[in-house]
Amino acid sequence: MDLFKVYRLWDIEPVRGIDTTLWDKDGNEYTDMYGGHAVISIGHSHPHYIRMISEQLARLGFYSNAVQNSLQKELAHRIGRASGYDDYSLFLCNSGAEANENALKLASFHTGKSRILAFSGSFHGRTSGAAAVTDNPGLRSPFNSAERVTYISLSDTEAVERELSRGTYAGVIIEGIQGVAGIHMPDDAFLVELRRMCSRYGAVLIVDEVQSGYGRTGKFFAHQFSGIRADIVTTAKGMANGFPIGGVIISPEIKPSYGLLGTTFGGNHLACTAALAVLDVIENEHLVENAAKKGEYFLKAFHPSGQLDPALEQYRGRGLMIGLQLKPQYSGLREMLLVREHIFTGAAGPDVIRLLPPLTLSFETAAGFMKSWHRLTSTEKN
Ligand SMILES: Cc1ncc(COP(=O)(O)O)c(C=O)c1O
Repeated sequence: MDLFKVYRLWDIEPVRGIDTTLWDKDGNEYTDMYGGHAVISIGHSHPHYIRMISEQLARLGFYSNAVQNSLQKELAHRIGRASGYDDYSLFLCNSGAEANENALKLASFHTGKSRILAFSGSFHGRTSGAAAVTDNPGLRSPFNSAERVTYISLSDTEAVERELSRGTYAGVIIEGIQGVAGIHMPDDAFLVELRRMCSRYGAVLIVDEVQSGYGRTGKFFAHQFSGIRADIVTTAKGMANGFPIGGVIISPEIKPSYGLLGTTFGGNHLACTAALAVLDVIENEHLVENAAKKGEYFLKAFHPSGQLDPALEQYRGRGLMIGLQLKPQYSGLREMLLVREHIFTGAAGPDVIRLLPPLTLSFETAAGFMKSWHRLTSTEKN
């Protein structure tokens, strides 16, 4: 049997990693400015993470959600404390798409309504409901119909009011910062208006922090720059540094009942332990603060003498969630970074490079990246 071919693959196989460095099977070294798609929050092979998971595995790797699991309770308490959502409750699942799927279901159960408002450029995952609210018809089969979804432009306050005032919406789903679209931020003032209108018209506000959460932007969740509180926050990628897990953080207004949601693997002992180890490191090593500092570093580095870097059309993002919109003549830059400089970065189409490095990124590695950037952009205008 061969693999079902759905991914475009680079011809590189990383087999080992330490912090922000990776090695392939031939021993070649790479710098990880991609974090395996914003997943590696505390760096590769962190000793505390390895120790916690190994010790848990030796005790108990898994038991079902039919019994008490104090690791889940501890995780809920710790996420509440780290995020400021202490009075909310947590449902654990296995991925970002699953977290969004459950959030949409909860919004619909809570309101008894079925329409959802989503945004142009959105990405919320590939499962049925998550694909329906993702603004990419290519990801939807006829079965994943978006019939009950309306898409409007990001930060269009009038469109929000026009739609929500119809009274047919169960909820609104919005990314803290749009990642797959190429790092687009909703205005803080727009989020405040959105919050106000969701409350006014009884729609559940779901903020998808799957990519933008867990300290990446310099706050625990990106939407917290605006000061608003969501009704539901979804989280996944950076939560357990690669161990599959997702979380739905749910307002006390939304009442649970037995059987409403469920999962076999979600919140298992190993996943919770991995997530707790990640929180330990985020807190002990002040990684949210580090993300903010390194974000400031890149902002300055890409605006030397106050002018935008000559290879860029635009610089977008917060903290270590950065979108570099390239001028058309630099569209091959991501591949050159990888092939010539051995630096992994992310993409959003051919003309946006996404930087999503581990939150442990050092000044030295950040400066090394800028050196490579300048080496390529000063000699190459391909
Ligand atoms: C904002 C956002 N939501 C949801 C998802 C889906 O997460 P997963 O791939 O874990 O299902 C992603 C993945 O890229 C994402 O960026």
